[in-house]
Amino acid sequence: MRLLVTGGAGFIGSHFVRYTLGRYPDDSVLVLDKLTYAGNTRNLEDVRSDPRFHFVQGDIADAALVAGLMPDVDAVVNFAAETHVDRSLLDAAAFIETDVKGTWTLLEAARRQPGVRFLQVSTDEVYGSIAEGAFRETDPPDPSSPYSASKAGGDMMVGAYHVTYGLDTRITRGSNTYGPYQFPEKLIPLFITNALENRPLPLYGDGEQVRDWLHVEDHCRGIDTVLRHGAPGGVYNIGAGCERENRQVTRAILDLLDKSDSLIRHVADRPGHDRRYAVQTDRVEALGWRPEVSFEDGLRATVDWYVARRDWWEPLKSGEYEAYYRAMYGQRVPEA
Ligand code: NAD
Ligand code: TYD
Repeated sequence: MRLLVTGGAGFIGSHFVRYTLGRYPDDSVLVLDKLTYAGNTRNLEDVRSDPRFHFVQGDIADAALVAGLMPDVDAVVNFAAETHVDRSLLDAAAFIETDVKGTWTLLEAARRQPGVRFLQVSTDEVYGSIAEGAFRETDPPDPSSPYSASKAGGDMMVGAYHVTYGLDTRITRGSNTYGPYQFPEKLIPLFITNALENRPLPLYGDGEQVRDWLHVEDHCRGIDTVLRHGAPGGVYNIGAGCERENRQVTRAILDLLDKSDSLIRHVADRPGHDRRYAVQTDRVEALGWRPEVSFEDGLRATVDWYVARRDWWEPLKSGEYEAYYRAMYGQRVPEA
């Protein structure tokens, strides 16, 4: 298969590129990535010399560019997105541009290319918060944040292109993902790197919010399973069934690093903060997928990776990041 992987220089996309080239000797991968603050060609260092790997810097919302790439591929896997809830609270414009308009632009190019398959990488956040039980794929989107609303908008457009134009689409809705190469703004890499720098860990509200933590390699295998074995028009939740409160995750990180709980700062809650995410995963499991990485093993390996790879993350926590961090936490988190 010849894959167009958009957002392939980001966290999950770069793992997916590595996974695909490693597992399928006859496949090739063309990455299209805008290289926003979250995109990093260093994430692709170990595949750069593979002759089956190609890279184009550009925007998924650039209609002429994506139309020109489409004849050379059999499938599109759309990871490209603005992905951080907190940034969407500061300014949602880029989320609408990329997650809604960019997705639509890709769909327009794909529907004009007979036989192309389109996989939309979405999130469990489109369902909103659930107090008990778990969402199924047939539950309607009910997003709470500008991020999840923009992702839901993209998903609705994907569904419409399947129904209206018969485009072979699939949607995956993965749960909170963690592992190496995650930008240090999301909970786990932010708290690991802050702890390593002896900076405070800003825990929102009571810290009792629950997320279902999915290791990035399990997430990539799930996306690959749906790409190759899912049904056209299908929606598939991908979750590890590994629920943890944020305060438990925080303590686990501090324990692994042998750091004191005194680094924890309880700060004002995130506006509109979803209390709990949970999804039912029997559909993707019927395709043969199961999560393989336990949270304990996955978190330990992730902490070890950030300890070893200061050369990767330290340069990211400067420049534009400092401005973001000050806007987000400046008033709330005095330095230790
Ligand atoms: P990320 O923020 O690490 O990477 C996003 C990538 O997309 C970056 O390389 C960025 O440069 C690129 N990009 C952004 N706008 C672009 C544009 N207009 N054109 C081309 N490239 C653009 O994101 P991630 O955490 O790897 O998430 C990837 C996908 O998975 C997203 O669609 C996200 O919604 C979804 N997802 C993420 C999680 C999670 O916990 N991280 C969970 C479920 C689903
Ligand atoms: P995050 O990694 O931003 O993912 P999402 O909001 O998409 O689930 O946050 C995970 C959880 O951690 C979420 O409940 C918000 C919380 N959180 C904090 O308490 N402090 C922080 O500094 C961050 C970034 C997140």
